[in-house]
Amino acid sequence: MKNCDTIPFYVPWITKDDKKAAVESLNSRWLTGGPKAAQFEQKFADYIGVKHAISVNSCTAALHLSMRVLNIKPGDEVIVPVLTFAATANAPIFCGGKPVFADIDEKTLNISPDDILNRITKKTKAIIPVHYGGQPCDMKKILEIAEDHKLHVVEDCAHSLGAKYNDKQTGNFGIMGCFSFYPTKILTTLEGGMITTNDEKLAKRLKVLREHGMNKTALDRESDAKWYYDVVDLGYNYRLTELQAALGISQLERVTEGIKKRIKAASYYTQKLSSPALRGIITPYKAPNRSHVFHLYVIKVQRDKTGINRDELFRKLTDNGIGVSVHYTPLHLLSFYKKFLNDNSMTFPTAEHVYEQILSLPLFPTLTKKKIAFITNKIEGIIASKM
Ligand SMILES: Cc1ncc(COP(=O)(O)O)c(C=O)c1O
Repeated sequence: MKNCDTIPFYVPWITKDDKKAAVESLNSRWLTGGPKAAQFEQKFADYIGVKHAISVNSCTAALHLSMRVLNIKPGDEVIVPVLTFAATANAPIFCGGKPVFADIDEKTLNISPDDILNRITKKTKAIIPVHYGGQPCDMKKILEIAEDHKLHVVEDCAHSLGAKYNDKQTGNFGIMGCFSFYPTKILTTLEGGMITTNDEKLAKRLKVLREHGMNKTALDRESDAKWYYDVVDLGYNYRLTELQAALGISQLERVTEGIKKRIKAASYYTQKLSSPALRGIITPYKAPNRSHVFHLYVIKVQRDKTGINRDELFRKLTDNGIGVSVHYTPLHLLSFYKKFLNDNSMTFPTAEHVYEQILSLPLFPTLTKKKIAFITNKIEGIIASKM
């Protein structure tokens, strides 16, 4: 294939309209804490189908604030999947709480509801399911468990903007949903995040915590023509800038188109990888009653059937100019969590087994069929040379 011998893992999709919106916001009087963020919040809430959306400057900030407003404190435990990004597990730690890992479901790679049950103690306060790769978790079972044990559910929707479980979008199921707008995500504001909720009291408190714990924003003070404000809580500066909000609004207008492109690219990958020569490669499993927005396209490499292990395939694809990645090293294998939880002997059999096999292939809205065919042909060639 000519002029196509490097394919990065991810290429952002920034259009002329996005750039125009960003420049316009720079020409406005408000650069942060202004009307664009409020507009973005309203449009986002409408898109998800919730009453409130609170913008913040990352999903990490969103998860942190969600733990704060649930009053997670020292001694409290929060159940999180062991196969996730560090930010999910760090959120309770920021508040003095403890993340408790649960194993995953082998097919969907989402948190296993059965293992959530094994991890519940008297100290458990909340569960943070992560809709891994863009496919919703088994929310029916998770919500039943939460109700039976009086636990809060905060959805980590970093991967799942636009994904549906039984025709309802993620971000609707828990008491809060936390979204990421990091460059590789379904929608990007460079860095950024959003919290969705139907609870008005929580929404108000989240807005206060986002802005230094102040009871009035700069925009409120200008419209009141009063300088006075009180600090009513220990807050942070977690605001999204106006440029980021303008970019978010522009991107939200074509989010459905972007998701369609991802789904189309994923189904082409699956078609190409279903060739008999590639029967040792397992393509992503799709559970019933759920849509998958394919933030990630994760294959499993079965060594016994391909003659190659994941690490070797990773290296060979990288050597061929194809950007691949692994999502994720299970958290219990990482130094910080071993030390923090003072436990070197944690074991999660499914996550450990799956971790040996998973490989994320390039997937972004502008990825062409030609490039996908180039990637899958390379995989086929590498495996053929091993057999
Ligand atoms: C599952 C998950 N949760 C949380 C985050 C944190 O998002 P952010 O980078 O916006 O803080 C990420 C980021 O990749 C993620 O993948």
